[in-house]
Amino acid sequence: MLILDNVSLNRNEKYILKGINAAFEPGKVYSILGTNGAGKSSLAYLIMGINDYRPSSGKIVLDGEDITSLSVTERAKRGLTLLWQEPVRFQGLTVEQYLTLGGKIKVPADQIDSTLELVGLLPELYKSRMVDGLLSGGERKRVELASILLLKPKYAILDEPDSGIDIMSLSMIEEVVQYIVKNGGTVIVITHREEIAKISQEAYLLCSGSIFAHGLPSKIIEYYKNKCDGCSHANIPSLGEVKI
Ligand SMILES: Nc1ncnc2c1ncn2[C@@H]1O[C@H](COP(=O)(O)OP(=O)(O)O)[C@@H](O)[C@H]1O
Ligand SMILES: [Mg+2]
Repeated sequence: MLILDNVSLNRNEKYILKGINAAFEPGKVYSILGTNGAGKSSLAYLIMGINDYRPSSGKIVLDGEDITSLSVTERAKRGLTLLWQEPVRFQGLTVEQYLTLGGKIKVPADQIDSTLELVGLLPELYKSRMVDGLLSGGERKRVELASILLLKPKYAILDEPDSGIDIMSLSMIEEVVQYIVKNGGTVIVITHREEIAKISQEAYLLCSGSIFAHGLPSKIIEYYKNKCDGCSHANIPSLGEVKI
């Protein structure tokens, strides 16, 4: 289980995230829903331990171990992975090399093919393409999703998995999520779209850096659609989690 225990993140003496409490059980699908600027990507970086995204208070516990001060590499070794909202490009690597971490992980060829097919890329067209600026943002994101699937993560944080991909991708994203779960993983889908939050079993509503509510996706989505108005809650100083 992954636990965020009263985690906050400060930048320039301002809260980006404040008093986040959340628990992610093995084998389940969660969503973190929130408008632009709510702090979703910051939360993803904080869980993953990217650069200086370190809690100013609180702790992160993974399967009983306090990982708050561990490096991103140490966290990755323990099974945490992140799909970046804006994937970076790698010069000089083909898609196939990228998916096998430059040959470091041994993956049967047919598994590379089936994974590429799962994310909607024809293997014969893409395996030898370079992972550079000539791939579109959407293709890049699909390659990144495929690489996460091949890693068989214990915990996968997918930050806006549909961004840059056409709207036909919803069923693909659902299949990707189910694939990770089938391999024993937990998925945390970060999104501002209710359609994406629908594929989760439990949803957290993030608003101005705080968890505003959590529970059944249908209820959280209803609240998000009808009452979430670009974070007018931002000015409420002691916002606690509300029961919806
Ligand atoms: N490193 C940083 N320094 C200062 N402000 C930041 C930093 N990272 C994020 N923020 C701010 O925190 C807020 C949340 O950003 P972000 O996590 O990207 O939101 P979301 O992913 O929900 O759109 C924004 O107002 C953003 O400008
Ligand atoms: Mg974001």
